Parts: sequence; C-alpha cells; structure tokens
Amino acid sequence: TQTTAGRPANEPAQRKQRAQIKARTLRTDRWWLAPAITFAALASFLVYGFWAIFDQSYFVEPYIAPFSSPCLATSCPEGARFLGLAPFGDWWTLPPGILILGLPAGFRLTCYYYRKGYYRAFWLSPPACAVGEPHKKYTGETRLPLIIQNVHRYFFYGAVLIALVLTWDAVLALRDAEGNWGHVGLGTIILWVNVVLIWAYTLSCHSCRHITAGRLNHFSKHPVRYKMWTFVSRLNSRHMLLAWLSMYSVMLADLYVRLVAKGVINFPFA
Ligand code: FES
Repeated sequence: TQTTAGRPANEPAQRKQRAQIKARTLRTDRWWLAPAITFAALASFLVYGFWAIFDQSYFVEPYIAPFSSPCLATSCPEGARFLGLAPFGDWWTLPPGILILGLPAGFRLTCYYYRKGYYRAFWLSPPACAVGEPHKKYTGETRLPLIIQNVHRYFFYGAVLIALVLTWDAVLALRDAEGNWGHVGLGTIILWVNVVLIWAYTLSCHSCRHITAGRLNHFSKHPVRYKMWTFVSRLNSRHMLLAWLSMYSVMLADLYVRLVAKGVINFPFA
C-alpha cells in the first residue's frame, strides 16, 4: 500500500520529512535577479505613487491625472470633478486622490500575480524556487492578515468602476481647452493607450475569468459566456505582462499630465 503522497506506507517517519540540507540553496544560477528586479520595480511605483497622491498639479484642461481620478471633493477644480459631482464637501481637506486610492491599490495588492511578486521580492517567502526562506513558520493565506487576500474578487468590481472612469477621462481628452471636440494631443494618445492597457489588465484577472464561466459544466449550453471566457482566457495567459505594462502606463500617463499641468511640458500638441 502507498500513502497519498505516493510513498510506501511503512516508510520510516524521518524519511517523510524534507531533506536536511544546511545550505540555504544549492542553486548556482542567478536566482536572486528576478526578485531583485521585482523589488526595484514595485518600490519605484510605490515611491512615485506616494509623491503623486500628495501632488496638487493633477488637472489641466482637458486632462486629469489617473491617480487623482475620479475627483470627488469640493477642492477639485470644476472641470476636474467627475460628472460635475463633488459628494465630498469642504470637510475633506486631504488630497482628493486619497478618496479613491483604495480601489486600484487594493486590486493590485490582492492580485494573484502581484502576490507572487511581492511575497518573493519583499517577504522572501520564499525568494525563489528551491531557496530556503528566512521565516520559521509558514501559514500561507489561511490566517489574518493574509486571509483578507480572498476579497480580490470584490476589488475586481471596484477596478471595473475605475476603468470606466478612466475611459470617460480619455473621452473628455478628445476636447480642447475650450470644450470643442476633435482635439488629439500627445496627452490624448497617452491617456488612450493607458486606458486600453488598464482594461486589458483588469479583464485578464483570474477572478474575471471565473466570473465569466467558472463552475459551468456545459459550455455548449452557455455560448455567450463561453465566448467571453475564451476571450478572457486569452488575456489571462498574458496577465503578468499586462500587470507590468498597465502599471507603467498608468504611472507615465499620470506623470505626463502633472508635467503639463506644471508647465514643464509645454509644446503645441501637448
Ligand atoms: Fe491579477 Fe485579478 S488576478 S488582477
């Protein structure tokens, strides 16, 4: 007879434990390179995001910086307010970007791919395959606080709302400063490229894939859901790439708008 792990049932107990290797790893390749690059890339995004969220130059007709959109406080310039609304009154004195930060940040923080990235690069848990981790205990995502990662699906719904808002911002970027339609500046193109990548990343989400056709037993009985699932699955196979591309596109789009608003970028088709 065999155990479920495929070992003979009468195998001595000590042989069922992990190999007792003193060295942290026997790998001789540059296993540290991927986590080091991930660390640098994510850290640069966090530093930029922290700066941007407190920066006040987030709007210049017809562009609004993605990190500060939707702008929902009365402190937002009139043209920057989402659909003209300002549900958060004068009592909100912090930068308006903080109001909505939780949705995109929560979406990326709980993303299955980013989890892999920062568990390796920041927590070294473990830093790479076949490399020992410094932690004594491993409880996975079964306890607080990591069990909260399971709310990812709800952040997905929030991320769809943010993607819709950014799409609307990109539509408004087709007007000039006087409100006439037909304007195409460099900012318009940058905002559109960003919004396409944001949608591609959002729809490639594993939760989205499950929402489209998870638990279906008969694809043939649900042709529309099957089509959606096929489309999402194709995107899903590029989820890691889309995570990086959309992260940098949103950062660059945000920076571009702020530089135009500050007058640092100042040419005819900005
Ligand atoms: Fe990455 Fe959902 S799994 S966004």
